[in-house]
Amino acid sequence: MADTDSVLAADSRFVWHPYTSDPVVGPRALITRGRGAYLYDDSGKAYFDSSSSWWCVLHGHCHPRLVKAIQTQAAKLDHLLFAPHTHEVAVELAEMLLALLGAPFSKVFFSDDGSTAVEAALKMALQYWNNRGESGRRYFLSLEEGYHGDTLGAISVGYVREFHHFFDMAIRPSLKAMQPYCYRCPVDKKYPQCALSCLNGVEALLEARGHEIAALIVEPLVMGAAGMVVYPTDYLEKLISLCKAKGVLVIFDEVFTGFGRTGKYFALDHLTDRPDLVALSKGLTSGTLPLGATVATDTVYEAFKGAESKKFYHGHTFSANPVSCAVALESLRLLEEEKVLSRNEALVRLMSEQVPRFESLDVVGDVRHFGMIWAAELVRSKASKAIPQPANGPGWKICERLWEKGIWMRPMHNVLYVVPPYCTTEAELGECFDSLYEEIRNVRDFCI
Ligand SMILES: Cc1ncc(COP(=O)(O)O)c(C=O)c1O
Repeated sequence: MADTDSVLAADSRFVWHPYTSDPVVGPRALITRGRGAYLYDDSGKAYFDSSSSWWCVLHGHCHPRLVKAIQTQAAKLDHLLFAPHTHEVAVELAEMLLALLGAPFSKVFFSDDGSTAVEAALKMALQYWNNRGESGRRYFLSLEEGYHGDTLGAISVGYVREFHHFFDMAIRPSLKAMQPYCYRCPVDKKYPQCALSCLNGVEALLEARGHEIAALIVEPLVMGAAGMVVYPTDYLEKLISLCKAKGVLVIFDEVFTGFGRTGKYFALDHLTDRPDLVALSKGLTSGTLPLGATVATDTVYEAFKGAESKKFYHGHTFSANPVSCAVALESLRLLEEEKVLSRNEALVRLMSEQVPRFESLDVVGDVRHFGMIWAAELVRSKASKAIPQPANGPGWKICERLWEKGIWMRPMHNVLYVVPPYCTTEAELGECFDSLYEEIRNVRDFCI
């Protein structure tokens, strides 16, 4: 067994990590094991995984039932060219997803991950209009600062300047609606007295160019990568009704919000209107194996039927991979059988109780909470709302100290967030918040 230093040295020589600079900022470890809400390094030290490993590990690491589902399926059927053959687990999974999503959804298209689920939805929307003879609908509408993945199509609708400005020449940016970021309101008003005036611009845009727009794509109710920005339900309801009035399709990117993260199965369960397409991934397999799904209504699917020339010319080698589908199915069974969403209510309450506590800290400008998502935005002062410089400076200081205490947290700019696995106990979550509170208090000087 190689020692830690030699593995880390070899890693530095041979491996290119996502979103990671060279030299690395923040703690860097050799993780050898995961169990429940914890990751373990090679010395055996445990770290509470406060972000569910990139927001996806629902049931905790290496859940025995999920491990077993992977082993059993891998021994039975490991891969299938999914056009046009099928396998039972894909069919069962599609049926279960449709039952959870409810009407009017009727078809599931499988892909590999969040970005490919989004790409498929975008391409379906464009081809839908072409197949119906309306080729003039060539634009997408999306929210400023939205995030939908890192592939070129996904960044054309979810542009994050810091990540994506290198690729400007390769994308055609979408039309944009103002970001409903109430703490830093783009029109300098207060919700709800604002009467959603941040939507005035998009209303005018839809009036003038609605007939050119194929689809709206949004992260419903929470913009994850923008800093866990939770926004009002009536903003989204109004935006959807403006779009539908102009015949614009609506795509919900529920890659992050799906499978209980907002307290209900899907963010769309908080709304009365329904989108035409839904992109799913992350929690779909409880973070064990890659899998994406794009779910469509019958109206959308109908436009692809009837002629060879109308088919959706899109697929991936690993579309509906049997092992990924089997573990997704087992994860959904666990959610149902163990009534996980009801069980989570105690954690949701605990997270809600932390809001006033953290709001009282002078370097915390805003605390956001929705279901199993919680975030605190660090500022230099409450009055100025000024962002610390560098934005993630204090965040990394705090996360380094938390790391020493056995908590793995990763800042997003000046935002610190807790998105715990659903197997977390109240005591574990309470401890995580206590440590975070303590460290934010200690780091005060770095913010100013
Ligand atoms: C809302 C949303 N959509 C899409 C993606 C992209 O998913 P993936 O990283 O699996 O490609 C992410 C990833 O964080 C996301 O948060």
